[in-house]
Amino acid sequence: MAFDEKYETGVVWQDFQHKQLIDLFQKIKEARANKKDESLFRYTVAFLAMYVNHHFSLEEEYMEKYQYPGKDTHHKEHQAFVKEIKAFRDENKGYSQRASDDLLTRMEDWILTHILEDDQRLGRHIHSFEKNRSAP
Ligand SMILES: [Fe+2]
Ligand SMILES: [Fe+2]
Repeated sequence: MAFDEKYETGVVWQDFQHKQLIDLFQKIKEARANKKDESLFRYTVAFLAMYVNHHFSLEEEYMEKYQYPGKDTHHKEHQAFVKEIKAFRDENKGYSQRASDDLLTRMEDWILTHILEDDQRLGRHIHSFEKNRSAP
């Protein structure tokens, strides 16, 4: 799955951060197919732990600031993914092919159901809010 332009919301920081995750997903998926994913697996797990904290807080700040109607549900989804990643780290202390496949499935699922759906809705809200605000 490529980060198609049709998925861009026009909110620069949000599109940029989503692309970072999707690019990394594609890289590890390809590495896994070539059985060269061990070091990238460690990197991805570490990256995700940092990424979810930073990226989710930013989206949540904007949901608050721009009175996003879907705020509570969106926030719950973030919390569930943070938990999922934490559980994954606890269960998989090191690399294994099974762990790598599991991580790929979870990332793909998150990209398809959250980033390409819920986050797009949120992005459109932020974008229109900022557009109206800056209108003369
Ligand atoms: Fe989100
Ligand atoms: Fe997001």
